[in-house]
Amino acid sequence: MNCTKCKTKAVIGLPRHNAAFCKGCFNGFVHDQVARAIKSEKMFGKEDRILVAVSGGKDSLALWDILLKLGYRTDGLYVDLGIGSYSEQSHAKVTKFAEAVAASHGAALHLHTVEQEAGAGIKELAQLIHRPTCSTCGTIKRYQFNRVAIEQHYDVMATGHNLDDEAARLLGNVLHWQEEYLDKQGPSLPASVAGFAKKVKPLYRLSERELAAYAVLNRIDYIVEECPMAKGSKMLQYKEVLNRLETESPGTKQTFYWGFLEKQSKKQPTETTMTEKDRAVLHPCTSCSQPTTAGVCSYCKMMARAKTVVPR
Ligand code: AMP
Ligand code: FES
Ligand code: ZN
Repeated sequence: MNCTKCKTKAVIGLPRHNAAFCKGCFNGFVHDQVARAIKSEKMFGKEDRILVAVSGGKDSLALWDILLKLGYRTDGLYVDLGIGSYSEQSHAKVTKFAEAVAASHGAALHLHTVEQEAGAGIKELAQLIHRPTCSTCGTIKRYQFNRVAIEQHYDVMATGHNLDDEAARLLGNVLHWQEEYLDKQGPSLPASVAGFAKKVKPLYRLSERELAAYAVLNRIDYIVEECPMAKGSKMLQYKEVLNRLETESPGTKQTFYWGFLEKQSKKQPTETTMTEKDRAVLHPCTSCSQPTTAGVCSYCKMMARAKTVVPR
C-alpha cells in the first residue's frame, strides 16, 4: 500500500477517504482537517488565547499538540477526578506532556482537583450525594472548564471530542428525540451570555482511530485505558453500533454527523438566535455568578450538599 499523495510506503489506510498515507502526509492530513474545522466553524484566530481541556487521553493531548504546531496560543487544563489509579496515571501523562510543551512553547497547565474542593473523589462524592457518577463528573467538568476559561480570561475553551464522540452523541440524542440537545450539538458554541466561555471541538472531522494513529506516530504518551466508570455506558454502546456500520460502509459516521451539521446550519440556530434564547433563560447563580437557569446552579447545589454529607 503506497501513500496516495507522495507514493512512498503508506503507514495507514483511511477507507472513508479512499486514501492511504505515509507518516508525513498523514500528519499533513490531520493538521489540514483541524485547520478546516477551525476556519469553517469560525472557532478562533491566531491572536486568541485558547484553553485546551486535557484528560491524558489521545484525543485531547493530540489536540494540544496539533494546535501548538499550527501556531495557536494554547494552555492546558486538567481536572483531577480522584478515580484511584486511573486518575493518577492520566495526571502523570498530562504532566509529562505539559512539561514538554512548557519547555518548547511556553505553554502553561492549570489544575483543578475535585477532592480538594469537594472533600472526596468523584466516585465517593456521587455515592454520598446519591447521583450517577458520570453525570456528577459531567457537571463538575463543564463547570470547571468554564470557570477557569472565564477567570483566566481565555477567549475560547477547546475539548478533544472527535467524530466518533459526536456521532455517538448525535445517535443518542436522535434516539431519544432530545431536540434541545440537538440545537447545542454543533462544534462551536458562542459565549452566549456574560460568564459563559465560547466552546469549540476542533477534532470533529477526525475519527478515534485516526487520532490514536496520530498520537502513536508522533510519540504522544497517553493513557490507553478508558475511565473505569464508563464501562457499559450508553455512549460506548452507540460507538460500537456505529463502528459496525462503519466497517460495512466506510464513511457512515462522517455522513451522519457532518450531514446533521449541514442541515442545522441551513435551518438554525444562528449565533444571534441562540444568544437570544440563552439570554432569556440564563442569569447569574446567586452563589457563584456562573450563568444558570435556576437560582443556584447545579454545581453550587452539589457542593453545598457535599459539605453536609462528606466526612472531613
Ligand atoms: P470524555 O467526556 O471523557 O469523552 O472527554 C471529552 C473531552 O473532555 C476530552 O477530549 C477532553 O478535552 C475533556 N476532558 C475529559 N476529561 C477531562 C479531565 N479530567 N480534565 C480535563 N479535560 C477533560
Ligand atoms: Fe467522568 Fe469517568 S470521566 S466518570
Ligand atoms: Zn453556582
